[in-house]
Amino acid sequence: MIQRQKMTDEKVSPAAGVLDDFSQFENQLRPKKLTDYIGQSGVKQNLKIVIEAAKKRGEELDHILLHGAPGLGKTTLANIIANEFGVNIKVTSGPALEKQGDVASIVSNLGEHDILFIDEIHRLKPVVEEVLYTAMEDFGIDIIVGKGPSARNMRIKLPKFTLIGATTKVSMISAPLRSRFGSVFKLNFYEQMEIKEIILRSAKLLGVEIKDVPANLLAKSSRQVPRIANRLLKRVRDFAEVENKSVIDEGITKKALCAMGIDDIGLDQIDREILSVIIDKFRGGPVGLTTLSAAISEEKETIEDIYEPFLIKMGFLERTARGRIATERAYAHLGIALSDRFL
Ligand SMILES: Nc1ncnc2c1ncn2[C@@H]1O[C@H](COP(=O)(O)OP(=O)(O)OP(=O)(O)O)[C@@H](O)[C@H]1O
Ligand SMILES: [Mg+2]
Repeated sequence: MIQRQKMTDEKVSPAAGVLDDFSQFENQLRPKKLTDYIGQSGVKQNLKIVIEAAKKRGEELDHILLHGAPGLGKTTLANIIANEFGVNIKVTSGPALEKQGDVASIVSNLGEHDILFIDEIHRLKPVVEEVLYTAMEDFGIDIIVGKGPSARNMRIKLPKFTLIGATTKVSMISAPLRSRFGSVFKLNFYEQMEIKEIILRSAKLLGVEIKDVPANLLAKSSRQVPRIANRLLKRVRDFAEVENKSVIDEGITKKALCAMGIDDIGLDQIDREILSVIIDKFRGGPVGLTTLSAAISEEKETIEDIYEPFLIKMGFLERTARGRIATERAYAHLGIALSDRFL
């Protein structure tokens, strides 16, 4: 997962994700029920069936893997699943599980059918991952008791729990681990109308009124990601508050977006910097990720996880075997003549 930047609200790019003081705000807006979770209809439908079936059988849920870009709603969904299934959820993350004993102690403290949520599951250590295999499959963990010739294997029995894993990098999950999940769900980027719905829902929860046109403007600038939509709404609300406006209107929204450096199609300063550096310094590319990262002083992971997917989706960037290339659309958007590349 991306490195979370500990910067002030003002300094961080809206695309770059959460901040600590932002997480409280996020929690406040997290839907608690499947019906309040907007979009991702395929995933929701499947989950409903999985949950109903397990309830009818009186069994634990199958292990579930959730994957998708940051801010699309994996953590939210894991909590909703626990809520809908009526069980407790214990939250941890791949890097936090350092040794086999960590898994043993955390799982043995769960109740029957409870959920263990492992965020960033692609960052599990191999020794920890291995112990999860038997925990997931047989609800047991083998430990070695004693030393030398008298050492023997002992199996600790675990409660029948459900593992929900979340990752932004599904390709980094090993095949043996992946195969132990009964359901694998991919969260997609949201449609603009869905993002608008999320903005309207969040505004209601925050007790602020937002007009239709500004809601659309924010939805268009949210890079199809709920977290960014909520983040932009928060900033615009601040702007409205400072200007003593009780309703978020088009004027204040445009002003806020402009102050945040977000243009009319949702690109922020760093997006534009990535494109203009590729064009100006590397003649449009191809340029490798390491070089690009050094040129704009951004973490490789941040570029790869946060910025690139959106730029590629918008048709501004191509990822080739030789590196990143700015497309004609990128030139047009930045107002640079394509011929400049060959001067
Ligand atoms: N489908 C949705 N409907 C309404 N709100 C949503 C939805 N998905 C996400 N959100 C909102 O977006 C915010 C971010 O979601 P969440 O933290 O679940 O993302 P994530 O996929 O776990 O991100 P990360 O990969 O960074 O952990 C939450 O505060 C939640 O309120
Ligand atoms: Mg999360």
